[in-house]
Amino acid sequence: MTPEIIIAKSAGFCFGVQRAVDLALETAREGKCFTVGPIVHNQSVMTYLAEQGVGYVDDWQDAPPAATLIVRSHGLGRDVWQAIHARQGKTVDATCPCVAKMHKLAAQCEQSGRTLLIIGSRNHPEVRGVVGWCNNHFIAENEVELAEFLKNISQEQSITMMAQATTVRAIWEKCVKTLKKDCTNVEIFDTICGATDARQRETVELAVSCDCMVVVGDRASANTEKLVKLSQQSCDNVVWVENAAQWPCGHTTGKKRIGVTAGASTPDRSIEEVVTVMTEEMKSGTNMNEGFEALLEQTFKTLSTGDRVVATVVGITPTEVQLELGTKHAGYIPIGEISNDPNAKPEDLFTVGQEVEVFVVHVSDNEGVVLCSRKKIETLAHYDVVHDAVKEDVVLEGIVIEENAGGVVVSVNGVRVFVPASLSGVPRETPLSSIMKQKVNLCILEYNGDRRRFVGSIRAAKNLVRDAAFAKVWETLKVGDAVEGEVKSLTKYGAFVDLGGIDGLLHVSEMSWSHVRTPEEFCKVGDVLKVRVIKMNEETKKISLSVKDPAQDPWRNFTEACTVDDIVKVKIVRFAPFGAFAEIMPHVTGLIHISEIAHEHLKSPADALAIEQEVEARILHIDHEKRKISLSIRATLEPPVPVKIDEDSSLDEVVASADSDGTVDVPQDVAEAVEEVIETVEVAEVIEEIVEAVEEAEVAEVAAEIAEAAEETNEE
Ligand code: F3S
Repeated sequence: MTPEIIIAKSAGFCFGVQRAVDLALETAREGKCFTVGPIVHNQSVMTYLAEQGVGYVDDWQDAPPAATLIVRSHGLGRDVWQAIHARQGKTVDATCPCVAKMHKLAAQCEQSGRTLLIIGSRNHPEVRGVVGWCNNHFIAENEVELAEFLKNISQEQSITMMAQATTVRAIWEKCVKTLKKDCTNVEIFDTICGATDARQRETVELAVSCDCMVVVGDRASANTEKLVKLSQQSCDNVVWVENAAQWPCGHTTGKKRIGVTAGASTPDRSIEEVVTVMTEEMKSGTNMNEGFEALLEQTFKTLSTGDRVVATVVGITPTEVQLELGTKHAGYIPIGEISNDPNAKPEDLFTVGQEVEVFVVHVSDNEGVVLCSRKKIETLAHYDVVHDAVKEDVVLEGIVIEENAGGVVVSVNGVRVFVPASLSGVPRETPLSSIMKQKVNLCILEYNGDRRRFVGSIRAAKNLVRDAAFAKVWETLKVGDAVEGEVKSLTKYGAFVDLGGIDGLLHVSEMSWSHVRTPEEFCKVGDVLKVRVIKMNEETKKISLSVKDPAQDPWRNFTEACTVDDIVKVKIVRFAPFGAFAEIMPHVTGLIHISEIAHEHLKSPADALAIEQEVEARILHIDHEKRKISLSIRATLEPPVPVKIDEDSSLDEVVASADSDGTVDVPQDVAEAVEEVIETVEVAEVIEEIVEAVEEAEVAEVAAEIAEAAEETNEE
């Protein structure tokens, strides 16, 4: 009859150990690091961690001064804790939260002057760490040792008692009873962790109901040893194995129900391997005394480091992917080897039953375990891609994984490419660390065969990407296209707008049909504008843009509505030294030259006009090409009425009657008298001559002549 195998749900890594292992692997990705003491009491896990760059030192002082140290889940005493934090190197704290809580209780105990009593293994690192936080302490391994201790102290002594997290509950309960019986001033903290409680309870339940108990875990693991002892209390047949290779062949024979449990430091993989061997044995119905070993032997010979094999995914956990390699090996890909993408999760990349090609990193003959890598397969596949890109205008994508004195290292799907600082595209004043862990584009400049090193340039890739984007946009754009773009910068004369890899200039005159004085009046950096391409210069590769809609062109409206000689109502909008600008209709203005504002001479347009004033003006001229309009107010005004002078007129009145162009209404004989002079002298002199002539004539006669002449003609 085939026996039933029941695996304890709580078997294997506890939360605290899993957390510590994960933290160590994560830390190792940044560089070599060390744990203070072995992170777990499990050789296969330690071997794997060492392969990933997590070493360990028994004494923290053995580590290099600048090395990163990891405090394992067992925690540390206060002195060591403070000493390693005072070092130059970084410290990563993986102390299990349950243990950290005990450190706090121990420190409080010391502060309040109480005696700390801890129930646990005297030499266990966790216990040594906890007592390191309270000078006045005593360790008892069981109720007998506790009773001995209590004999030597007074009943009133203040005592705080707690338990090593993995203490067997039965021992703890006996100690509680003993303490309560002998002391009156006690504080008791049940610090056995939930994971331990569940594991021990389940182990006892299984041991009671099974005719064979299998405990998987390292011989150095204290909590595994406790599971063995607990199992032995209820089951006569207990097998303690560290791995599948230690399975006593044929031991399943004759069993009805086999329970399997494992210590907190035993990885799932080890449990699975043992169960696989047991299952295989049951399937074959053989004792396998010789068969199993022979089978293993054969299997070990078929796989070697460096092999590439196709495997089937049989299990996925947050920390590894388990594989069926088609042999008797148990294959697995640890989390750090599943992908070159550091953010990849096993469940996103793999499904149970999926076939994947893997690279054999390490074959462990003792344990029948094969460490595989999917990352290396990816890297090998991409090596050729990177090699082919040398000196080609090819842009590859990678992640910056390291910073060193000369530059950075970029991982292109696992292939390491060195990028010198000068080619990193990072400005001089900015640290290279600013691009750490970022995705970047790069070109491959060279491959140094001797140093097996690729050299790349992020800057060259940026230029290539920019040029390609420019060419693409230039190719697709044409004059008249309406596009959207983001304002990148402003200058005195306009705004540069990014059209998706190429900038165009939106000149200030193209920002509105109205007058815009500065680009800032219209837009700011970051604005997204709808623009129209109005010019593309093939030679200079410059693009001119406009936001003005031709359908709304106010000039067209003007020319359809007005023509030369029309009299239009205009509004004065601004002055210039040479005249005034007047708005004829929205966005259409014309110039009234200063000489066209009034009949009389003006020094400034403001002498006769005001901003916002509405006046009538005649359109004198329209320049369609330059879109300019000349206006005249004077042309709409009546000519000035001549000043009449008579015999009583003073000389000033006569002079004042002169027009702005220097003419004056005078009798015929006076006019004839000055005619000759007029022909030969300048206008100002003419006026003087006129004055002289008038002075020489009899004023009464002049007045009479003027009156007569005025009757005859009213001409200028
Ligand atoms: Fe922590 Fe308990 Fe494990 S104390 S390390 S969770 S056994």
